[in-house]
Amino acid sequence: EGDKHLGGRLTGSMDPIMEILNSSIAFDQRLSEVDIRASMAYARALDKAGILTKPELEKILSGLEKISDEWSKGVFVVNKSDEDIHTANERRLKELIGDIAGKLHTGRSRNDQVVTDLKLFMRNSISVLSTHLLQLIKTLVERAAMEIDVIFPGYTHLQKAQPIRWSQFLLSHAVALTRDSERLGEMKRRINVLPLGSGALAGNPLDIDREMLRSELGFASISLNSMDAISERDFVVEFLFVATLMMTHLSRMAEDLIIYSTSEFGFLTLSDAFIATSSLMPQKRNPNSLELIRSKTGRVFGRFASILMVLKGLPSTYNKDLQEDKEAVFDVVDTLTAVLQVAAGVISTLQINKGKMEKALTPEMLSTDLALYLVRKGMPFRQAHIASGKAIRLAETKGITISNLTLEDLKSISPLFGSDVSQVFSFINSVEQYKAPGGTAKSSVTAQIEQLRELMKKL
Ligand code: ARG
Repeated sequence: EGDKHLGGRLTGSMDPIMEILNSSIAFDQRLSEVDIRASMAYARALDKAGILTKPELEKILSGLEKISDEWSKGVFVVNKSDEDIHTANERRLKELIGDIAGKLHTGRSRNDQVVTDLKLFMRNSISVLSTHLLQLIKTLVERAAMEIDVIFPGYTHLQKAQPIRWSQFLLSHAVALTRDSERLGEMKRRINVLPLGSGALAGNPLDIDREMLRSELGFASISLNSMDAISERDFVVEFLFVATLMMTHLSRMAEDLIIYSTSEFGFLTLSDAFIATSSLMPQKRNPNSLELIRSKTGRVFGRFASILMVLKGLPSTYNKDLQEDKEAVFDVVDTLTAVLQVAAGVISTLQINKGKMEKALTPEMLSTDLALYLVRKGMPFRQAHIASGKAIRLAETKGITISNLTLEDLKSISPLFGSDVSQVFSFINSVEQYKAPGGTAKSSVTAQIEQLRELMKKL
């Protein structure tokens, strides 16, 4: 503990520029509430350990209550000399109740205090984010159920590939997000390990009841080793990774929707609520919401990378470097909170242009089906693939689409072609072949929707 206010060790005062660099109160005041909660629990544990008398405990608790009140009313006055939220709250406690305030920090260090606070904060933030994420998934799934009959081109390499249901596309994004939701849930187990009672690094010398602290603060278990407990920021790294992957999924979805909303594609129109116009070109309907989702992905990944960079090369236990963790967490929580809600808003308000979607379906997208036709007549797929390719080439040289080739044209490629080949050139017939689970046939998409509705109950 090197703080200039904390002891008799130092005689000189801190350089003013150093003070600015050293201070975290500007951002860690977001931990004010959880810091007080953890202090109240610790005070009770000190009472049980015989360090505080009952009247002293009452004084400390009511002082902390008052400070909590000041924070929530926005009237807490931060002093220039407050280094961080922990020293600020303790300074204020002393102003309110006098020297007894100095008993609160017995056996505790800001090292176990700060990581406890951050875990409490993140536990709450993750619950909020999970709710927003679930809402987004629900929006995708319900839209998929409503527009299940819309068929449009599916793309690979951004080239028209095979006809699919619009719902298949929506659900593909929903499913990816369910994994992110599971990841958020799974990391809670590791956050839920209480570090308080680990001191600066060696543990707690007062035989403090850590089990009592655990149950008061709602943790699932207590940390196993004091040195690990105050150093580990695995939960921060894990959260930032999960956030980065989630943003990567959202960025991909945003990019798809940006492309589909161009006038060249014209598949969908974004609501005025989520776009902007140009200050110069009056015709513009710029997809600002989706572009920001895409760019925030870079921002979140940057936060993730920065923390790993900070952790790499640190020696064991607490080093002031760890102070960097909070800004990353706060920024990512705020970014995700906004992005998830905007994404749900974009999805629920966009309008699809069924006509343009259907018009974009071209007979060449049925080339695979033409090959499958021959497969059903007994031809090995590799040969059928070649035959279908020849049909495309023939149509191309004739300047027509494959659906306009005559039966004679087709028979010149393979005698297996018969008059029933006309059934191949139907987009609805095409998608309806994909009945195996996970496919784009109506029965299969309906089953996906049902499964997702069940899964959502558990997220
Ligand atoms: N503000 C510090 C942080 O954010 C609190 C812990 C300070 N501990 C210390 N040994 N200086 O990490």
